[in-house]
Amino acid sequence: MQNTQTYIQANKEKFLNELFHLLRIPSISADPAYASDVQKAAQEISAQMKNIGMQKVAVYPTAGHPIVYGEKIINSSLPTVLVYGHYDVQPADPLELWTSPPFEPVVVKTEIHPEGAIFGRGTCDDKGQMFMHLKAVEAMIASEELACNVKIMIEGEEEVGSANLGLFINEHKDLLKADIILVSDTGMLANDTPSITTGLRGLSYVEVEVTGPNRDLHSGIYGGCVANPINALCEMIASLHDENMHITIPGFYDKVQELSQNERDEMAKAPFSHEDYCKALDIKDVSGERGYSTPERGSIRPTLDVNGIWGGYTGEGAKTVIASKAFAKISMRLVPDQMPEEITELFQKHFESIAPAGITVKVHPHHGGEPVVTPIDSIAYQAASNAYEKTFGKKPIPVRSGGSIPIIALFEQVLGLKTIMMGFGLNSDAIHSPNEHYGLFNFYKGIETIPYFYQEYAKLSKG
Ligand code: BES
Ligand code: MN
Ligand code: MN
Repeated sequence: MQNTQTYIQANKEKFLNELFHLLRIPSISADPAYASDVQKAAQEISAQMKNIGMQKVAVYPTAGHPIVYGEKIINSSLPTVLVYGHYDVQPADPLELWTSPPFEPVVVKTEIHPEGAIFGRGTCDDKGQMFMHLKAVEAMIASEELACNVKIMIEGEEEVGSANLGLFINEHKDLLKADIILVSDTGMLANDTPSITTGLRGLSYVEVEVTGPNRDLHSGIYGGCVANPINALCEMIASLHDENMHITIPGFYDKVQELSQNERDEMAKAPFSHEDYCKALDIKDVSGERGYSTPERGSIRPTLDVNGIWGGYTGEGAKTVIASKAFAKISMRLVPDQMPEEITELFQKHFESIAPAGITVKVHPHHGGEPVVTPIDSIAYQAASNAYEKTFGKKPIPVRSGGSIPIIALFEQVLGLKTIMMGFGLNSDAIHSPNEHYGLFNFYKGIETIPYFYQEYAKLSKG
């Protein structure tokens, strides 16, 4: 491992320059206007894979954006690690809130990242994190210290639901044969408090359309006489939580696994400062389900949030009008054993049933994903834990996260593989927000830690 680590130290500058190259490509998967940039990013990654000496490198076209694959098989008797990541990014808007252009990466020092952080869309989610794997593999190949076979699969549709990756893994089960999946697309507690992500929430996402009269109406002539769709939508949404911030949809909690007191006590040992949390967000207090702590509310409990709401007149000045329609986008984060299809159905039934007189409701389901929890008593977890201990000098804490990566549940169902989530981002890195960034400390620490996982996993697999 010494040669690998020496190689990494000697090539830090080069790694960063190469990452910058990738960050300059605006590979926004949601917006068709950027389709050719998404292609460019895929080509760039395949060129990278070839450069570092991977085999069978190919860009697989899909009905949407391409999947890049490459492998390095050194010995069929060694275990195989399958790395997953995504090269697509979220849209960068609102652009005016960025302190530097989103696709012109720069390194800036911050309070949390005194050694500097790379600012730009995708720096943390997930180009910067997925790139750590390419560089770690490069270092291991160059030093002839690769201890496992490695397969790398990087997709371009994670931020839009991974629909085509689901099909791809079904059609390429042999190609993707492996022993463990390794992903860096989550976070850790703090730079001096390493953690391994052991769970993700699922997702059910719906769009609702509420209709009242057949046309927009004069709010003086008709106001007070017909149901106003925007008023109705607000009341309906407000009724989805009770005074304890419980979700009121009948059956919503039926399949929720409650944690034992013991498990909750374990969770509470992870450091958390209410004060720092509020300060970072400029809020006076937190809000959430009664009876649960903030870390619990954000990981082991399901939620319902409006992500967008619109309708009626929103232009300059005042227009007196009762809109014909109102809309909202609503996400529900799910925990084991809530199933997205079931929850979407429960939502739909309930939301339709609470429509007041004179209002009709349509619910349009979007993509979803199942929650996952990964074991901490496996060889792979032990290998990851040992790897962090080597580079951070501390045992990492297992932490369940609130975000979602829907494909991870499918990896287990389709490929029969468990996933280790070695995320190196911080909550303060502003993923999906303006001024997304990723610490240089985190980028390099990730590259240094990953090779130890291979070494430890090969060692522990031998038994
Ligand atoms: N990398 C994130 C998920 C994530 C972030 C998990 C931080 C844990 C901690 C991923 O790219 C993402 O944004 N997922 C979406 C879901 C997807 C279907 C659009 C999410 O969680 O909203
Ligand atoms: Mn991501
Ligand atoms: Mn994301």
